[in-house]
Amino acid sequence: MRFVLLASLAGIVRSQVTVHYVLGQEPFATTTADSSVYTGLNAYTPLVLNPPPPPDPAPATAFFIQLVNGGTPGASIPQPGQFFGFSIEMSVANQVLGKNSSLLQVPFLNLMANIQERSGGVRVRVGGNTQETAKLVPELSDGKILEKNLSQATNPTQTPPLVFTPDLLYMMANITSLVNVHWFIGIPFFQTTPFDLSIAVTGQEILGDALIGIQAGNEPDFYVAHGHRPSTYNQYDYFGEFNDLIAAMNGSENDINRHLLIGPNTADQWSQQDIWNTGFVDAYHDNLAYLAFERYPQDNCAATFDEGSAIDPQQMFPYYLDHSASVNLVANYLNSTAYAQSEGKELIMFETNTASCGGFAGISDSFGAALWGLDYALQLAYANFSGVLMHTGGQTVYYNPFTAPPTNESTYHQWTVGPIYYSALIMAEALGPSNTSQVLDIGANGGNIFTPGYAIYEQGTPARLALFNFITDSSGAHDYYATFSIGGGNTGQSNGTPAQVKVKYFRASSVSQKGNLTWAGQTFGDNFATDGRIQGEEDIETIGCDQTGNICSIYVPAPGFALVFLTDDALSESEGGGEAQTFPTTTVTKMDNTATVDPAVLATSNGHHAAVDGLGSTSRGRNNATNKLLYTSFSYLYVCAMMLVYFV
Ligand SMILES: *[C@@H]1O[C@H](CO)[C@@H](O)[C@H](O)[C@H]1NC(C)=O
Ligand SMILES: *[C@@H]1O[C@H](CO)[C@@H](O)[C@H](O)[C@H]1NC(C)=O
Ligand SMILES: *[C@@H]1O[C@H](CO)[C@@H](O)[C@H](O)[C@H]1NC(C)=O
Ligand SMILES: *[C@@H]1O[C@H](CO)[C@@H](O)[C@H](O)[C@H]1NC(C)=O
Ligand SMILES: *[C@@H]1O[C@H](CO)[C@@H](O)[C@H](O)[C@H]1NC(C)=O
Ligand SMILES: *[C@@H]1O[C@H](CO)[C@@H](O)[C@H](O)[C@H]1NC(C)=O
Ligand SMILES: *[C@@H]1O[C@H](CO)[C@@H](O)[C@H](O)[C@H]1NC(C)=O
Ligand SMILES: *[C@@H]1O[C@H](CO)[C@@H](O)[C@H](O)[C@H]1NC(C)=O
Ligand SMILES: *[C@@H]1O[C@H](CO)[C@@H](O)[C@H](O)[C@H]1NC(C)=O
Ligand SMILES: *[C@@H]1O[C@H](CO)[C@@H](O)[C@H](O)[C@H]1NC(C)=O
Repeated sequence: MRFVLLASLAGIVRSQVTVHYVLGQEPFATTTADSSVYTGLNAYTPLVLNPPPPPDPAPATAFFIQLVNGGTPGASIPQPGQFFGFSIEMSVANQVLGKNSSLLQVPFLNLMANIQERSGGVRVRVGGNTQETAKLVPELSDGKILEKNLSQATNPTQTPPLVFTPDLLYMMANITSLVNVHWFIGIPFFQTTPFDLSIAVTGQEILGDALIGIQAGNEPDFYVAHGHRPSTYNQYDYFGEFNDLIAAMNGSENDINRHLLIGPNTADQWSQQDIWNTGFVDAYHDNLAYLAFERYPQDNCAATFDEGSAIDPQQMFPYYLDHSASVNLVANYLNSTAYAQSEGKELIMFETNTASCGGFAGISDSFGAALWGLDYALQLAYANFSGVLMHTGGQTVYYNPFTAPPTNESTYHQWTVGPIYYSALIMAEALGPSNTSQVLDIGANGGNIFTPGYAIYEQGTPARLALFNFITDSSGAHDYYATFSIGGGNTGQSNGTPAQVKVKYFRASSVSQKGNLTWAGQTFGDNFATDGRIQGEEDIETIGCDQTGNICSIYVPAPGFALVFLTDDALSESEGGGEAQTFPTTTVTKMDNTATVDPAVLATSNGHHAAVDGLGSTSRGRNNATNKLLYTSFSYLYVCAMMLVYFV
């Protein structure tokens, strides 16, 4: 099958290929792609690339941005605070979410709680290619909740089918009882006669309102290439199968919610217009909760399968380091986002990340990827998508937003937070929890692709400014100052620039830096260093503005990103609009935790995002730093103490 697959790739434009079903399957596979000496897990590859040299000609290092109140021509539709979510490959759900419904991963809870504090909640999809053959069974003989059925040898993709128990869904429900996570799942679509509706039925029973969407098929436009449908299969056949699915749901003796379906979930192998031309959205309007596409901008399949001419990450790195990557990708969808609006539907970029087949070593795990992910998310928002879900595989991929330690190392290693998680955290703050923020690409610096910027509006009023600098130059020669005015000048409005603004910076020394990225001075550290709570003193800069001259100048380092809060409300909303509790891992048992975070740092950690947080140390028996707060925290944790313990 692999050969069929690769043959089929040859004829496809490289950047449109999405083939990643093998990844996330083998938790301990080693890379065969990289010729370097490192043979460990891809998720921790040490490869550090060289940052590209500054562009010539260099962009201007000072430029002006005019903002106006009341009126945002060209701004996006109002965007949900929960715009940026995650997609978790189903086969690794029992590594990332927890072991089972009574052993949840505390770091995962914290990672979700961080985003909830900023945006009110998080949308998470459990699915991917492995959802397509997943079979719900009452229980598994070894007590697990999810595993590959290796006895089934006939699967043409070499992807062993998954078997899972209802406890996977109970685990998801239990997570929702602690943090505000809502879930997307998918109905297996390889086998349609009959459809296996059990995940929809049981999912609805167990998750209730926490279930917000059910995919009908995952990348059906790849079914032919992957050997799951005859060569004639096209968008009309998918239309028919969608109808069959609804008929099966209608005919089921179970009361299944038929209004949560998501389609077409294609990956750009079929033209979007051809799909809409089938009348799909009108025909199934009542059944469709969301419309969705999936798209990775690049692929690393040749390297992953160790065949063909592998792409050199160093050569590919510049692609991710300017605004045109996101603008050009998203431009392909403008007809569809307009169409979705005309149909009253929300369109989600349902599965994406830096590159399919696991991403690129040195790129997907770098600061550059975080800048790319943030620019991409803001561009999708500006273009009237209504959400993006960044994909998370297992230990064999480079692009994970967060990675649980390998199970053979989980007693002494903590989690690793990747660049894309920082993108999510910052996007949550950029939008805030109002669900009314509107995003505008302001074409900053004459549209220079290395220094893009966005304005985020609340009720027509500029609330935040997002300013990027993709260039790496430690000399300071490519740092810039963006000077903005609100009103005044020839806008026909009176001067509206505030007396001061607050700025948070996202920084690293280079776009190639891995680990220790800082957001407002706080970090999740290096590999294996986090329990999901950001560490260090929060550093928010106050910038005085010139109200007489009606101008305000914001410094942006090379490389770096600045989020400018134009009003106090804009800051406070982004910092506690959605209250959330984080969970100290001091409740963990059977653990001698040698995490590298210094307890003294922990004692002053978490800025003011700590909510009811105990600020507990990650070292056993040293949790008395903040007893008063801990009391609240532990009295709650006591109730579900068994549930929060998972570091075995
Ligand atoms: C855990 O397993 C991975 C993959 O086999 C291996 O690279 C790593 O060295 C193992 N760790 C230990 C401590 O044995
Ligand atoms: C979860 O796993 C633990 C450890 O294997 C086991 O003791 C517990 O009974 C399991 N819980 C459920 C609900 O299966
Ligand atoms: C695994 O696949 C085999 C072969 O199709 C099947 O007989 C068996 O029931 C499956 N196991 C489970 C737990 O579903
Ligand atoms: C967690 O899941 C179990 C099912 O294993 C259930 O009995 C329990 O009530 C759940 N706990 C919470 C807090 O939802
Ligand atoms: C499913 O049931 C609804 C409501 O009864 C009906 O309108 C629709 O035509 C049915 N769809 C199919 C495909 O059977
Ligand atoms: C968008 O629609 C216009 C008009 O129907 C068409 O000319 C254009 O090719 C479409 N663009 C894309 C990317 O599909
Ligand atoms: C997004 O939708 C709004 C409202 O319909 C529209 O004004 C704007 O032009 C759209 N943006 C893009 C990039 O299509
Ligand atoms: C934003 O949308 C989410 C999801 O629909 C909802 O739960 C939340 O209450 C909304 N927030 C506000 C402020 O309306
Ligand atoms: C991250 O910070 C830690 C602690 O300061 C340090 O030991 C480590 O070398 C740093 N790693 C990187 C990639 O900068
Ligand atoms: C914890 O309590 C002990 C005994 O009261 C004290 O010596 C120690 O400084 C405390 N640790 C912290 C981090 O406050």
